[in-house]
Amino acid sequence: MTSDLWQTIKKRPQPTLNALFEGDGDRAKNFSLEQAGIYFDFSKTHLDQATVQAFRNLADDVELSAKTNALLSGEAVNVSEGRAAEHCAERGMGSPVSVENAHALHQRMKSLLEIIDSGALGEFTQIIHLGIGGSALGPKLLYRALKLGDEKYELEVVSNIDGTALEPVLERFVAEKTLLVIASKTFTTAETLLNAQSVLDWMREQGVADPLGQVVALTANPEQAVQWGIDETRILPFSETVGGRYSLWSSIGFSVALALGYDVFADLLAGAAAMDEHFRAAPWDQNIPVLAAFCDQYYAQVRACETRAVFAYDERLGLLPDYLQQLEMESNGKSVTRDGEPLSLHSSPIVWGGVGTDAQHAVFQLLHQGTHLVPVEFLAVIEPGDSLDPAHHNGLLLNCFAQGAALMAGKKSDDSHRNYPGDRPSVTILMEELEARSLGALLAFYEHRTFVNAALLNINPFDQFGVELGKQMANTLSANDGNRLDASTEELKKRAFGT
Ligand code: F6P
Repeated sequence: MTSDLWQTIKKRPQPTLNALFEGDGDRAKNFSLEQAGIYFDFSKTHLDQATVQAFRNLADDVELSAKTNALLSGEAVNVSEGRAAEHCAERGMGSPVSVENAHALHQRMKSLLEIIDSGALGEFTQIIHLGIGGSALGPKLLYRALKLGDEKYELEVVSNIDGTALEPVLERFVAEKTLLVIASKTFTTAETLLNAQSVLDWMREQGVADPLGQVVALTANPEQAVQWGIDETRILPFSETVGGRYSLWSSIGFSVALALGYDVFADLLAGAAAMDEHFRAAPWDQNIPVLAAFCDQYYAQVRACETRAVFAYDERLGLLPDYLQQLEMESNGKSVTRDGEPLSLHSSPIVWGGVGTDAQHAVFQLLHQGTHLVPVEFLAVIEPGDSLDPAHHNGLLLNCFAQGAALMAGKKSDDSHRNYPGDRPSVTILMEELEARSLGALLAFYEHRTFVNAALLNINPFDQFGVELGKQMANTLSANDGNRLDASTEELKKRAFGT
């Protein structure tokens, strides 16, 4: 049945975007939705009412409703690891026990934040947040997006094991004023623990008598953090059922909450909760994450698009493509179904992107005239984040809107070099203002869209076994215990280390 429904979708007529607009005078209105101060315009995509209906039939067939209820009520939706995926409980939706637990852990986080803010543990004005993947990308994105510049604390997020990432921070920071926050769900991640050790060594060298007294740990494995030497009172746990790339709502958000204020963090959760409620309650054809996933699946399966590009027309959202890469590619970059059978559909597209207007002068050539069809997503904010001449912000927004229009309209020319084929799709997400609430709603939208894509593909978005093999091989290479890898890799190692 499911494969018949996919065939129906694939066989539908494919009118051009221009034809779709000509056929429906209200298309801009009919294919846009608004929620939590964010306007989502899907009208410049190839979805029409009949295609949406065909996807709704597919959604029914794959039991999207039941799957959504299972997610939002804390059932064990992460089937390969036998546990729930409870990021929504952090925002108040889930099993009552988990919601209560998340609330209690947030209160504990708030108390520690107040203690630190009072100066009881030291006169800190600088924070080094160490973490990688989901333990870094969310905090980094939030800080860059929401900081105003007049905060008491300066926050640096360091993730890479490459010492050239950490060293400049240590050169600039003052050890006794530095709070070290170690963020790791497992508390076993090599990059994070090596960086943490180096920060402690630096503190000691700089004359700090008790470096561990300046450490806070954010983890779902508190025992491991205790073993590492961190005092229990400065360990902020979160639930094992909150996935790394879904964890910024948990204590992983601590550094941002400290740097920007707990109220900002609370607003972020409230914005996400508003999107959760919309996702739970809205019918599929009025449901923003669901419609976005219908678009994604249309381009992936019907038009065989292998990538999707995200351009933030706002410097403050410059890290959004990085964040989405982990969220979408680590969640849905799979080749088997939930039952472990080979997947016959294309899984997650490759997500890439950058910031406008810079990207226009670098990669947009391919978007307008290249042979690849790339669905584009534009993000922009109506309220400017700067106080310069309004010409800056007006120019930014007008460029954003013009790109979507140009991709769609194209321009015919007898000179093939100067011909723009057009009919290239885009979604525009327009935020009234960039503040914690709307950003929370935006990120929750992306989480739910990722979930719906996984449901339509019948894959499990909540495991990430694909990243394990490389870690194991790195251990084999560093062990020097006689176990050899392939000749090419061994030669590279020999050239670098001499053995
Ligand atoms: O290697 C992938 C991964 O496990 C991500 O899923 C996770 O966000 C990241 O590593 C960091 O893991 P941890 O928070 O346990 O240090």
